[in-house]
Amino acid sequence: MNKDTGFFGHPIGLRTLFLTEMWERMSYYGMRALLVLYMTGSLAGFNPGMGLSAMDANAIYGIYVGMVYFMVVPGGWIADNILGHQKAVLLGAIIIALGHFILAIPVEQTFFLGLVFVVLGTGLLKGNISTIVGNLYGDNDKRRDSGYTIFYMSINIGSTLGFLICSYLGEKIGWHYGFGAAGIGMAFGVYQYIQFRHLLGSAGEFPNDMDESKRAGYIKWTKLSLVLMFAVIGCGLLGLITIEPRVFAENFAYFLTIVAGAYFLYLYSFAGLSPSEKKNLLLLFVLFIGAAAFWSGFDQSASSLSIFARDYTDLSVAGFIIPIGWLQFANPIFVVTFAPIFAGIWAHLARINMDPSLPIKFAIGLIFMAISFMVMVYAVQLAMVSAPVGMRWLLLTYLLQTWGELALSPIGLSAFSKYSPKRYMGQMFGLWFLASAIGGVLAGLLGGDATVDGLSSVQPIFTFMIQYYAVIAVLLIAMSFLFKSREKSS
Ligand code: PHE
Repeated sequence: MNKDTGFFGHPIGLRTLFLTEMWERMSYYGMRALLVLYMTGSLAGFNPGMGLSAMDANAIYGIYVGMVYFMVVPGGWIADNILGHQKAVLLGAIIIALGHFILAIPVEQTFFLGLVFVVLGTGLLKGNISTIVGNLYGDNDKRRDSGYTIFYMSINIGSTLGFLICSYLGEKIGWHYGFGAAGIGMAFGVYQYIQFRHLLGSAGEFPNDMDESKRAGYIKWTKLSLVLMFAVIGCGLLGLITIEPRVFAENFAYFLTIVAGAYFLYLYSFAGLSPSEKKNLLLLFVLFIGAAAFWSGFDQSASSLSIFARDYTDLSVAGFIIPIGWLQFANPIFVVTFAPIFAGIWAHLARINMDPSLPIKFAIGLIFMAISFMVMVYAVQLAMVSAPVGMRWLLLTYLLQTWGELALSPIGLSAFSKYSPKRYMGQMFGLWFLASAIGGVLAGLLGGDATVDGLSSVQPIFTFMIQYYAVIAVLLIAMSFLFKSREKSS
């Protein structure tokens, strides 16, 4: 048993990871909140944007968010087989900081290059840092779950800081200052990680044991893939390949869905799982669909909902017009406030033997999403009569979405750690991030459809969201009967 209790009763290495993740999320969410606003901002004015259509800007946003989480899968593979998790996190953090600094250059030509860097860096950092958290604890250490809860707090403190600082600088002073602030935040994270990495000890230090000649082969393939990838990206950046954002986003969504579907199918049919493992896998598949659907609405916070905040919401508070991105810190603040309450509710229900099954909890998450979009449809109707409307509608929407997040996100993660076939654990975590990737691209596509034509296009899309959540929630509830005996028996 690990006796290290240097950080709130947890191993002191958790502090290093806490602060690294905090700065990384500060930079990620801070920059992300500016992205669509910058891309759709008009070319003229004191803070010129890129003048893109809402459709294209949202599609690029979707591709970006999708890529960030998709890259977690190869990032995990590289850490497992080549770098070890500690080095992967360091390299990732440096690449992310460089990406934000490239975005800070006040020209448009380097914009996409900056995004590519942030995507690749996050791929190396985000999943691997969560893996090291788990490695800090011995196999039977009961503190692991609460370690993850503390870690989740760092995510939300980080995003609050990001919205606060980057949105203010980006919107009120100049977009590129906001991007630069994200870079400085991540640079603090890098510095801190280098200073205190030794506190991690051997957690996540080495890649998997294997024959060195096998590793050399892996390294060769990785280098080759990197060269190919940069060649393709280079051609895109130089304009040698024309990329139609909307078409690309649609194809990317299909691609991710096929990859995830094929992987589940492979595991189910060819991985030699026992009947009980297969049933668990089906449960995770159902949860996967619920999670992807969930994020497709949730991640519209920095797409359609941000545009609604900018164009149709009164943002004045005591004579000061707050930055649009400030509304988004409703989410992390509500997370920190309500997380203990949700944990308490589940624990209480478990004590009286009424703990809802996993699909039911996911269905609850989706029902909160459906209600949040009902609130938005109402707000849109008000705005059609007289805009701008008050901020309370968006705040209420974020409150409901946060409740949804708390019913689904932490529980989903622990379900994946509990029900995954043990020898496929790393890849199963990758699948959990793929659900976020699919959700992210869909958020860009749906957000684009919603904002293509002012308010008149918002209502039908948000109404569709309500129906789509209701249908999936009902399916999950129906499925829960199938899995009832499963959870009880395990
Ligand atoms: N707020 C969470 C985070 O940034 C959202 C999330 C959950 C993202 C699961 C990816 C996967 O970490």
